[in-house]
Amino acid sequence: MPQLVWLVTGCSSGFGEVFIRQILSRGDLAIATARRLDKIQHLQKLGAAILELDVTHSQEVINDTVAKAIAIYGRIDVVVNNAAHVTSGAWEDVECDQLVSQFDTNVFGVFKVTRAILPHFRERRSGVMVFISSLSGWHGHAFIGPYAGSKFALEGLVESLGRETEGFGIRTLLVEPGRFRTLLLSPSNLRVVPSKIPDYAEASKANADGLAKGDRTQPGDTEKAVKIILDLVRKEGCAQGKEVPFRFPLGRDAYETIGEKCKETLHLLEDWHDVITSTDFDSDSAQK
Ligand SMILES: NC(=O)c1ccc[n+]([C@@H]2O[C@H](COP(=O)([O-])OP(=O)(O)OC[C@H]3O[C@@H](n4cnc5c(N)ncnc54)[C@H](OP(=O)(O)O)[C@@H]3O)[C@@H](O)[C@H]2O)c1
Repeated sequence: MPQLVWLVTGCSSGFGEVFIRQILSRGDLAIATARRLDKIQHLQKLGAAILELDVTHSQEVINDTVAKAIAIYGRIDVVVNNAAHVTSGAWEDVECDQLVSQFDTNVFGVFKVTRAILPHFRERRSGVMVFISSLSGWHGHAFIGPYAGSKFALEGLVESLGRETEGFGIRTLLVEPGRFRTLLLSPSNLRVVPSKIPDYAEASKANADGLAKGDRTQPGDTEKAVKIILDLVRKEGCAQGKEVPFRFPLGRDAYETIGEKCKETLHLLEDWHDVITSTDFDSDSAQK
């Protein structure tokens, strides 16, 4: 495969930073973006171009940034929508503006960045869009509603987008990681809404303690995950000679939880088949 130009959002830590290192080490060109340039200057030293990009900014600002990014190497071949954060709390404790803020980054930000790049991809009749979703795009854990809701929303948006654009030679890859060791659950990045309601207090605190315990003890190795994603995009390594699927879970926990949900859903459909399929209008002849 020829040398690719990648644009990655949220490169100050975690998956984003690892993406830039691995993209460069495969000989591709990387444009690393972050809310604060001082957090990605070390990636510039490694050879990446760097740009400031806060995905919650307006569509106009994001369009300008993407235009600047395209101008650096004359094109972009792959965009990785990676930036996100986690807001955790009970439905009754989370204020609507906190939910909107969660969606601003994880959904509307992805929407705006992708809208900015799509005309470029359509014009060139090529491009790969990578979306970092989550196991939380399949399973809504208690007290993780805002984050799970944002990733479920992302899954639906991206599924439609993939179908709308595949005819233009644009590939879409929706990645669903389980728990990987990054700064996602670190005190600086995680937003926990503590419960003010006695009924939820104990379970909400147990959830917050569990998330804190999970910080940087997650089982997933981010380097291994990113290597697989690069293989899937470049159709080499583990993806050599294979049809690359649209949706790709990553991690043993993702495999187990998604598998369980598929089995439960199939069981539900079989168990309730006659009731579920009984709601069409009776045929005209039967009505007469
Ligand atoms: N780690 C996991 O277990 C896991 C599991 C499933 C899915 N994921 C997904 O993986 C992706 C990367 O997360 P991570 O695990 O690598 O966590 P991370 O280390 O916390 O990285 C998240 C990145 O997003 C950036 N970001 C947050 N808000 C932003 C905004 N408004 N504009 C631009 N950048 C912003 C952060 O930058 P700042 O430094 O500016 O805050 C940071 O660089 C996310 O989509 C996450 O949902 C992670």
